[in-house]
Amino acid sequence: MGIGSNRISSIGTYAMAAVRQRTEELRAKGLHPVDFGMGDPSAATPEFIRRACAEGIERHAASGYPPFAGSQPFRQAVTDWFEGRFGVSIDAETEIVSSVGSKESIFHLPEALLNPGDVAICPDPGYPPYGGGTLFAEGVPYFTPIQKATDFLPDLDSIPDEIAERAKIFWLTTPSSPSGRVASPQFLKRWVQWCRDRNIIACSDEAYSEIYFDEPPHSALEEGKEGVLVFNSLSKRSAMTGYRVGWVAGDPEVIALYRKLKANIDTGTPWFIQEAAIAAYSDESHVAEMRAGYRKRRDLFVAAFEQAGLPRSEPEASLYVWQRAPEGITSTQLSEALLDEKILAVTIPSAALVGDPDQHGPGEQFVRLSMVASWEESERIASAISQYLKLG
Ligand SMILES: Cc1ncc(COP(=O)(O)O)c(C=O)c1O
Repeated sequence: MGIGSNRISSIGTYAMAAVRQRTEELRAKGLHPVDFGMGDPSAATPEFIRRACAEGIERHAASGYPPFAGSQPFRQAVTDWFEGRFGVSIDAETEIVSSVGSKESIFHLPEALLNPGDVAICPDPGYPPYGGGTLFAEGVPYFTPIQKATDFLPDLDSIPDEIAERAKIFWLTTPSSPSGRVASPQFLKRWVQWCRDRNIIACSDEAYSEIYFDEPPHSALEEGKEGVLVFNSLSKRSAMTGYRVGWVAGDPEVIALYRKLKANIDTGTPWFIQEAAIAAYSDESHVAEMRAGYRKRRDLFVAAFEQAGLPRSEPEASLYVWQRAPEGITSTQLSEALLDEKILAVTIPSAALVGDPDQHGPGEQFVRLSMVASWEESERIASAISQYLKLG
């Protein structure tokens, strides 16, 4: 008998960890693969943000524990930014709490809301911590398919009443990873109301809200705070994945529960990281510049896949091209073909992102290519894709 708990056995290997391992294996063979797996920007965090962090270290020479819920200036900076961006005012005292990046809050929130056997509705494919956090809280993930046939949004009418009655959480990702689909205000209204009617907390993961190519995406909090939580972070907006700073905002009753949970788990985001985040929220020009860079990469890769004869797959937002495989080709075959020695692009097959293959079958076949490599590498790989990608 192993020493692992039932809980740790209930979750699989983290999909991105498997991709990292694959990249390492290729490197060990002396090859030079480019990692398009993780949504981890390779661009430097802007200089003014790094400077604010360094100055924060000096200001907090005696380090001191930070407040569990985030410093008042941090919470105020986020709520000011949010009001400017979405036109919704958030009470910095009662309606927001800092996180150690959204992954932390997404994984932990179910501990504050679920009793054993309660259901969390999760998009499938989707961000793995929705399901992992649910299992750790002894809840039951119900994976709802996010496919071309559902317009890459959850099909609310397909969720059985028996599941809706047991559900306490509904995760929505908008803009979506992996599909790059943005939920319209009409969809957000319908989804929030659907959740309210069933006493389900509508949890909107808006990690990619600032990485868009058309109209700026809307936030679920535009539909009011009752029963709604929004999760966001500086990771993608300001290329700050390594800083680990984010926040959760919304319904004060649920925020109070999450604050209580967090006070028992960690001791807040370091002061100097919060100060870097405050600086980041004071500026939009670096975000606009970053968006322009992602748009160039999106156009490059969408065209490369099209030239290779694949169906056109163009994201509206996010860091990803969610490339559909041609008929008869599986996501794993497409991902493997992209590892051909003439291309060497590491991507994630949809098979690795599906929450529960037994629940809905293998689903549609895609690979996720994260647009995070340098421009030179992106151009080189895009050109190799258009020339050498061979399938079947
Ligand atoms: C959909 C989605 N949500 C949340 C996150 C978490 O980001 P972080 O923990 O860096 O804030 C990610 C990261 O890739 C993501 O893809």
